[in-house]
Amino acid sequence: MSSAGLPSEKDAELEWAGRAARIALEAGQKLKEFFVAGVETEYKGDVDLVTVADRTVEAFLRQALLEEFPEHGIYGEEGTRDRLESGLRWYVDPLDGTTNFAHGFPHFCVSMGLEERGPKLRDDEDGPIVAAVIYDPMRDELFVAERGRGAWLNGRRMRVSTTPVLGESLIATGFPSRKRHSSPNIHFYHEFTLRSHGVRRAGSAALDLAYVACGRLEAFWEFHLNPWDTAAGFLLVEEAGGRVTSFDGALRKLDSQEVLASNGRIHEELLGLFAAMFRGQDLAVIPTAAEYAASRRARQAGEAATI
Ligand code: IPD
Ligand code: CA
Ligand code: CA
Repeated sequence: MSSAGLPSEKDAELEWAGRAARIALEAGQKLKEFFVAGVETEYKGDVDLVTVADRTVEAFLRQALLEEFPEHGIYGEEGTRDRLESGLRWYVDPLDGTTNFAHGFPHFCVSMGLEERGPKLRDDEDGPIVAAVIYDPMRDELFVAERGRGAWLNGRRMRVSTTPVLGESLIATGFPSRKRHSSPNIHFYHEFTLRSHGVRRAGSAALDLAYVACGRLEAFWEFHLNPWDTAAGFLLVEEAGGRVTSFDGALRKLDSQEVLASNGRIHEELLGLFAAMFRGQDLAVIPTAAEYAASRRARQAGEAATI
């Protein structure tokens, strides 16, 4: 069994996250066993991968959540749609970071977020997220939060970083595996790389959000995420003192086309940059590959190079 900790002194007060965390620890252990053994990769789309680990662990989570919370609904990435009329619904990503997993890159997690859905909510409306669990089995790191109670990493209270400006920040993003040619994100990647300590693209949106919550990153943004990617991470960030919105500052949505999570302190600066970029302003100019090649040729010929 894992050595990752639950919030000890608070454990008894947690309504759902403690029990869900035990399930996530077991699920993570299964992922790790598949990872060590190696698995075949299949394609869901042109570069959208899936493995036996995604399916097996979602089936495990479905059964384990049903036994632990028989009244709760479950909405999973690999197709689980159970009791969606329930007032409480788990969004489950059995393996966030499948591309990493399939390539032997040890950065992935299990993510589970619980949404409270009032009786009058329309299908496209969000209820509050009330519990969150993300578990990284390779680092044995367990991230847990409950609404209004706080957020913990391996039993220790977590807080977002206090870095006040983008120029001193480490931030992260991700790119979709579907419709890659219609995503403008590479322009944002370029711009933010030039204005921060760096941009990481580590391949697990849930862990990116967890890392904002525990202060390893100052911010994370991505286009086109799904509720199973974000439900748990949103609550972790908010309970750790951070902020999550769309790119124009509107309240974040579970079924989000735009996610901007930060330590709060640099949020307005980031929103300003998004606004400027959407207006077509503030693009920093870097040399094209052809300009660089011309300069290299000049250097090799002993002439003055401009780059
Ligand atoms: C993906 C990861 C990745 C993000 C993609 C997601 P999956 O989830 O979170 O970091 O950039 O948008 O689809 O497919 O590995 O569960
Ligand atoms: Ca995912
Ligand atoms: Ca997944």
